[in-house]
Amino acid sequence: MTPDLMMEGTERLTKMQTQRKPNSKTESGDRQAAFSRVLDPEHLDMTHGQILYLEDVSVSFDGFKAINQLSLQIAKNELRCIIGPNGAGKTTMMDIITGKTRPDTGVVFFGSTIDLLSYKEADIARLGIGRKFQKPTVFENLSVFENLELAIQCNKNVWSSFRFVLNGEQKTQLEKIVETIHLKERLHDVSGLLSHGQKQWLEIGMLLAQSPQLILLDEPVAGMTDHETERTAQLCLELKKSHSLIVVEHDMGFVQSIADKVTVLHEGRVLAEGSFAQVQANPQVVEVYLGR
Ligand SMILES: Nc1ncnc2c1ncn2[C@@H]1O[C@H](COP(=O)(O)OP(=O)(O)OP(=O)(O)O)[C@@H](O)[C@H]1O
Ligand SMILES: [Mg+2]
Repeated sequence: MTPDLMMEGTERLTKMQTQRKPNSKTESGDRQAAFSRVLDPEHLDMTHGQILYLEDVSVSFDGFKAINQLSLQIAKNELRCIIGPNGAGKTTMMDIITGKTRPDTGVVFFGSTIDLLSYKEADIARLGIGRKFQKPTVFENLSVFENLELAIQCNKNVWSSFRFVLNGEQKTQLEKIVETIHLKERLHDVSGLLSHGQKQWLEIGMLLAQSPQLILLDEPVAGMTDHETERTAQLCLELKKSHSLIVVEHDMGFVQSIADKVTVLHEGRVLAEGSFAQVQANPQVVEVYLGR
């Protein structure tokens, strides 16, 4: 979730709480309770083993089909890499999954039962889909700790208890995240002083604070040093133990080191799908992308 979305969510929450009428004692649940239930990731139905399901999704911009009958399924705890030439529709696909862009046609489901096309962007983030954009969007003038603290406070638990001081459980969560993203030594440094790679990790940490089940990373290693790229590969493999991930990248060494399965997008649709070795050996993939 970006700071923009976090702020928007917090503002909407405060407004809702202010407007909210007191419950009667016999009431079994109001709109907020119902909303919290829907947004509770515990209720994500993955009985078919899929966390994400796209079918026949298309979107046009001024008559240009950026996404063209795209179908894609991501399994629970899968780490899927998406590759393809510039303009293939990779970022647009993420925009559709996260509610930033509405497709013209098609079906997009989170688990078996949540129709993502009926939710707004901020609600999709709260449903358990975390997205990191290419450019780090941390609060530069806040410390690593403060950025994470803010992200934890904006977490979906906020719907039931809006606090300004982290409780014990949240503190433990913060410590665990800091270990995962390798920023323990920089905890009280201002984020603006971090390297580009460290800012990317901090933003991933801020995503983790939202306890997402599905994480989308758009070109996470662009601009990173080789060492940072290696550490990011380790981080992705670590995250895979408890999340599903979709990673868009042009760095093939990185893709090879992390991918379970690779999907090649070309002109808004799936050109090939399989192991890294399979897509690498596919003549069409070599022609439109890898051979360039
Ligand atoms: N909001 C928009 N309005 C108009 N055209 C758009 C919009 N978003 C994307 N496009 C176009 O859709 C196509 C797909 O763009 P997209 O950014 O998804 O590609 P990509 O695969 O992420 O490429 P890259 O590897 O360069 O990041 C491009 O031709 C792009 O110009
Ligand atoms: Mg892109």
